[in-house]
Amino acid sequence: MTKNLRSQPPLADGVPILGSAAAMLADPVLFLTKQYQKHGAVFRIQAATQNLTAIVGAEANQFVTKEGTAHFRSWEVWHPQDTELGANRSMISLDGADHVQMRKIQKRGYARSAVDGRYNDILEIVVTEINSWQQGQPVSVTAAMKRIVTEQLGQLTTNTSPRAYIPDLLKMVRTMLFVYVTKQYPKFVLLDPSYQRAKTRVINFVREMIQAHRDTPGTREPDLIDDLIAAQQEYPDFIPDQDLLMAALGPYIAGLDTAANALSFVLWTLHQNPEVLEQVRAEVDTAFASGELTTQSIRGMDVLHRVILETMRLYPIAGALTRTVTKDFEFAGYTIKKDTNVIIGTTVTHFLPEYYQNPYAFDIERFTPARAEHRRPGVYVPFGVGSHTCLGAGMAEAIIMVSVAGIIKHAKLEPDPNYKLRIISTPTPSPDTKFALKFVARR
Ligand code: HEM
Repeated sequence: MTKNLRSQPPLADGVPILGSAAAMLADPVLFLTKQYQKHGAVFRIQAATQNLTAIVGAEANQFVTKEGTAHFRSWEVWHPQDTELGANRSMISLDGADHVQMRKIQKRGYARSAVDGRYNDILEIVVTEINSWQQGQPVSVTAAMKRIVTEQLGQLTTNTSPRAYIPDLLKMVRTMLFVYVTKQYPKFVLLDPSYQRAKTRVINFVREMIQAHRDTPGTREPDLIDDLIAAQQEYPDFIPDQDLLMAALGPYIAGLDTAANALSFVLWTLHQNPEVLEQVRAEVDTAFASGELTTQSIRGMDVLHRVILETMRLYPIAGALTRTVTKDFEFAGYTIKKDTNVIIGTTVTHFLPEYYQNPYAFDIERFTPARAEHRRPGVYVPFGVGSHTCLGAGMAEAIIMVSVAGIIKHAKLEPDPNYKLRIISTPTPSPDTKFALKFVARR
């Protein structure tokens, strides 16, 4: 029996010429949510020169989880960024069997277990940052969180301090994302001498780091770089030098802005909810009562964990994914053709009242076992869906838990009552640079 498929998905709201570009730039998840509520699970978006088909909702997330590998590829979206470093490919741009192999090689380096036993190292980085704050002065939160997370990622994944290169890493990673992935910047910005300087410094730093690892095998617990070097020795054609360099930058490309911005949003939600902050403070003091944090005491910080879950629901850092269709498929009554550019509105489900009571309210009770609103397939997806699901999710969660605990333990901070949250996109969303907390005192 032939199915009755409709011909064209409806066109999302927009204005002549620019289409939906302004709305997509301003708040893509809000736009996708409104269009889903109006048109259903599939619609077309015309945004300036880009034409996309959106697939949205819990069913779309489940479809990508179950059948994404057969129907989508990441290559067109992510490979242009590889070319900037002369690399052939990277984990995020690969698909199919090669992606599986690359992910296997890098799994251990990104695993949560890379954080086990290193809580004190993570905390020391937080304390060093707090020591640089002036009592009575505002602390610019997103900048401070970037400093903390960059150093933590460098230490955890490569046993190397990137501290001297933080501005270069930020400049390089953001420019590459803006030019090659979101395509919001024209290519000529790559000629800017400040970008070129940052890129040269970062490449030299990473080359030296790789060489230092080659020179000192077996002197540490193997980290991401050791695993990449070992894989290169075993399969030289699979990871040539330029691809190894690209992979060594992976923690900064994938983890720096994402984890630092999530951490900034957590400090925002905590300081907007003083009763919750008090509960977290009590929990943190208990966790530190025996001196050091342990896996056990971290697990005991249930309120903080729910604050983080709720913050990642309300302020998703990677709200949607883009892909190219590999072969025709049917979804929600439409045929989506091979080579269509698709946007998967993954985190739209975070804002749907059918799953989350009063979805725009900050409410950590929704994550209690009694309500467990997130425990339905495809409705809570801050780390993406399908084969490219965040490989650093466990590490990100551990970094955020321990860092917030360290900040709450050692610093009393106060919000500015006049500040209204403004979210900027660089291109990952974060509170703007005016978001500051006053450093009242050490605790
Ligand atoms: C709260 C913080 C984070 C969020 C919300 C986040 C989210 C995501 C999402 C949505 C993807 C999928 C991208 C796609 O399918 O196109 C992804 C991939 C990835 N993330 Fe994260 N991420 C976070 C932190 C981190 C950290 C800290 C690391 C590393 C230390 C990391 C490493 C990766 C890697 C390596 C991939 C690529 C996986 C693959 O291609 O198979 N992420 N992340």
